[in-house]
Amino acid sequence: MDREFWLKKWRENQIGFHQPDTNAFLRRHWTKMRLRPGARVFAPLCGKSHDMLWLRAQGMSVVGVELARNAVEQFFEESGLTPVVSMCGVFERFEVEGLALLVGDIFDLDALTLGRVDATYDRAALIALPEPMRARYADRLLALAGHAPQFLVTISYDQAMASGPPFSVGEEEIRSRYGDRYEIKTIEWTDIPGGFRKAGPATETSWLLTPR
Ligand SMILES: C[S@@+](CC[C@H](N)C(=O)[O-])C[C@H]1O[C@@H](n2cnc3c(N)ncnc32)[C@H](O)[C@@H]1O
Repeated sequence: MDREFWLKKWRENQIGFHQPDTNAFLRRHWTKMRLRPGARVFAPLCGKSHDMLWLRAQGMSVVGVELARNAVEQFFEESGLTPVVSMCGVFERFEVEGLALLVGDIFDLDALTLGRVDATYDRAALIALPEPMRARYADRLLALAGHAPQFLVTISYDQAMASGPPFSVGEEEIRSRYGDRYEIKTIEWTDIPGGFRKAGPATETSWLLTPR
């Protein structure tokens, strides 16, 4: 799953992962993160998710990173916001009040370029990646934001019956990747109507990761 895989998805508008509305888990449970107004929320692999606008509307300051420039352009066009565009190291930065999106590869991102992080919102980021990229991703996330709480949304299904993305990530894997640094709690889970492709039953789960 190299860069070209995702760039092609965006070029060809194959973005079934994009949700037309704000994520329901996010809306219902974000307050459990207990953040102050103005808290800076990191959205890794952010796509053009509406969730970022919702977080901004809750008084959060959002910083996202996304490989596809196309996605970031669409985000601003569709939201009617006009960003200021600048270069920030190897990243192109699109910014409006309370929201900055960095175009580039998360594996090139360093803490200085990212800036302060008070919380992370991962929806369809960890599960977008195959093994062993998930291991690299989780390590990168811990290095960039391992001190901050994380709101994580995953999907699980029988991986032997279908291929990702999205990839199936269950509790055992979450604990093995993040358990040393975080207390991990399930917030809410729901069965996905119709299941996942040929795999049949599938579950979407939201998790609260609190630094130890
Ligand atoms: C499954 S989508 C999820 C997007 C978004 N989180 C959402 O909920 O709609 C994964 C996104 O990650 C981006 N992506 C994949 N690899 C990346 C990388 N190494 N660095 C930054 N973004 C990446 C893809 O272009 C794609 O938009």
